[in-house]
Amino acid sequence: MTSRITRRAAAAALAAMAGAPVVARAQLAVAPAQAWDPFPAGFVWGVAASAAQTESRQGRGRSNWDVFAETPGKIRDGSTNALCTQFESRYGEDLGLVSAAGAKAFRFSIAWPRIQPDGAGRWNAAGLDLYDRIVDEMLSVGLEPWPTLFHWDTPVWAGDFRDRAIAQRLADYADVVVARLGDRIGRWILLNEANVVAVNGYLTGSHAPGLHDLVAASAAIHHQNLAQGLMAKAVRARLGDKAQLGSAVSLSPIVPASPSQADEQAAGVFWDVWAGSLLEPMMGRPYPAAPAALMTAFVRSGDSEIMDIRPDFLGVNYYARSYVRAGPPPLGFLPAPPPVGTISTDFFSFEPGGLTEILLRLAARYPKLPLVVTETGFAQRDPRPADGRVEDPTRVAHLSDYIAAARAGIAGGADVRGLFYWAATDNWEWQEGFSKHFGLVALDPQTQARTPKLSLAYFGACARANRVA
Ligand code: GCO
Repeated sequence: MTSRITRRAAAAALAAMAGAPVVARAQLAVAPAQAWDPFPAGFVWGVAASAAQTESRQGRGRSNWDVFAETPGKIRDGSTNALCTQFESRYGEDLGLVSAAGAKAFRFSIAWPRIQPDGAGRWNAAGLDLYDRIVDEMLSVGLEPWPTLFHWDTPVWAGDFRDRAIAQRLADYADVVVARLGDRIGRWILLNEANVVAVNGYLTGSHAPGLHDLVAASAAIHHQNLAQGLMAKAVRARLGDKAQLGSAVSLSPIVPASPSQADEQAAGVFWDVWAGSLLEPMMGRPYPAAPAALMTAFVRSGDSEIMDIRPDFLGVNYYARSYVRAGPPPLGFLPAPPPVGTISTDFFSFEPGGLTEILLRLAARYPKLPLVVTETGFAQRDPRPADGRVEDPTRVAHLSDYIAAARAGIAGGADVRGLFYWAATDNWEWQEGFSKHFGLVALDPQTQARTPKLSLAYFGACARANRVA
């Protein structure tokens, strides 16, 4: 017990050293003591990124996000994705920094517009060669590669998720990538956050392709579920049980704004639309009632069998709880603000207890499904680099609590196999441009200079110790 308190005190001292408030443990859902125990042997400690947010446009075809970024008013800071962090040429530096610190895995994504820039049936050999080199570099510095096959960037020629045919196009692309890289990669993430793609891209319009259409958003959910099923079939046809596959889903506890029956019911419907519409079909179960009503126009005979992939793991992208209140038809729910006093970061709220809660909810619903926290992280207004480092003690304190919350989920019975911090480096945060700094490594977008943050050292210390440092 003493050693755990000592470790906690050390982390607190680390945070207090730079005058940051150390957050009370009250938010954890499980007895704090269990949260400081070692993680299971083989727990994966990784950092995450995506091609569309880190690679420049050099050497790839035109994408949906190029079109969106060049549309006036869409990107808050007026930036574009032309350069991002030039990961395609600077990956050696980034991989070296995170592996030297202690990270054991690197979640990245393959850019579909780089593999298939010009159209169906045509492949860019230079694009496949690049990922060959990136994967080999990861392995050479002791980082397990965890590729995401689709992290939102779509070649313009391939259209969008209103079109059912995109599902097979994605499966054909996945087949070519797996054929090239499958000999060195054991875990594949098929899709990233199909719910965010559908809602932000097709309903709220804040992401590419920028639509405001509930029918289009419903089609996007169903056609991504189909794509995921056809991709899984292609990967398994190539690799059999040599590889494990899953998808990353944006997930959080859904909290009703009040204990009223109307808000409680709205929270239940929101879960079914936001999460159940993806999780249930992939686990061989029917769409819940609310999303089923939205999908009627798109579902064809045999689709359920395609969507039923029984994944080897579920990627959980968690940042903060979601709050919902009753709303008008047809959805019946509206977003609500977090409770007054909830600590916020420069993007999401700080709610470590929600991570434990969502892990336990998923473990209860899908007891045999291993979970991997494929994203969690914090945007902060970091100070400028000094003496070759960025002091970010608040991110250290937040990260410490979220890692402890994941360990509390394991103590509560969730089979959690890994945690990936989002993100390896500051990068291009979609509609927010370069204004949100999530990275463990700071980036100067003008000079492309990288500077490690205190939090990189802290995450590496947790990875090496296999516990909350
Ligand atoms: C997402 C995406 C990431 C984001 C990250 C911070 O979850 O929206 O997977 O690309 O950059 O979550 O918002």
